[in-house]
Amino acid sequence: MDEPSCFSKRFTEEWLFRATLRNSLRAWVASQRSSWLRVPQVLRADHRELRIDYEFLDGWHPLHTVLRDRAFAGLTEAELTRTFWTVGAALEELHRRTHRIHGDFDFDNILVKRGEERVAFVDFTPPTYSAFRRYNQENPYRDIATFVIFVRAKYPPQLLYLAFRPLLPELARSFMSGYFRDAPAEYDRCMLERHMNELLRNTYLGKTFSARYLRRSRLFRTDDLAPES
Ligand SMILES: Nc1ncnc2c1ncn2[C@@H]1O[C@H](COP(=O)(O)OP(=O)(O)OP(=O)(O)O)[C@@H](O)[C@H]1O
Ligand SMILES: [Mg+2]
Repeated sequence: MDEPSCFSKRFTEEWLFRATLRNSLRAWVASQRSSWLRVPQVLRADHRELRIDYEFLDGWHPLHTVLRDRAFAGLTEAELTRTFWTVGAALEELHRRTHRIHGDFDFDNILVKRGEERVAFVDFTPPTYSAFRRYNQENPYRDIATFVIFVRAKYPPQLLYLAFRPLLPELARSFMSGYFRDAPAEYDRCMLERHMNELLRNTYLGKTFSARYLRRSRLFRTDDLAPES
């Protein structure tokens, strides 16, 4: 039988290799009982070469290929709403079942495939801007805020016009509705705002042209993000 194709990731530092392996296994276990979340399985971990081989997710694409496409990659509004709701539901499950945050929850690390019920999360490597090793024990609103910033506002200057598409606030709200599907009253707008501001202040996100330029624009509004009850 053919070897299953795999996605290999190599590390230069042992602590990154170990942290990624631990996080990946934890997330995979969480995904096994989830209706929304898929996580690629770890097939092999080579402790000498500092390499992890994952199950290859064939035909799955990073969410940015949908979000940054002028026509949302041809997905219908219903498909898009469903996808963003599912990202929220899956993130909530990851948080609840692992008691960890993802820590680098941007749209490169979320994979989707048309027709699939689930979304896949990848890249459980500590992000380079994580200042300390317990980065993934921070407040869950950090992941929520990261995602919202990417949906609403993280555009390179030449694509900035895409940020003003009217569907985007709707999709951000679908995400929130998925996350808070069982308890919409728990949504804490101040907490979200605090974490968005913190990310813009303290990570590379705020250093980009778009964030500086957009800081005072309506793209960073949170008043229209309350999940539907
Ligand atoms: N198991 C997988 N199957 C298919 N594609 C994958 C898988 N894991 C990751 N990818 C794709 O490869 C990309 C890079 O992987 P990952 O996010 O884990 O690395 P990274 O640390 O962000 O590395 P880089 O900075 O080089 O992108 C992901 O954005 C995703 O598109
Ligand atoms: Mg990545």
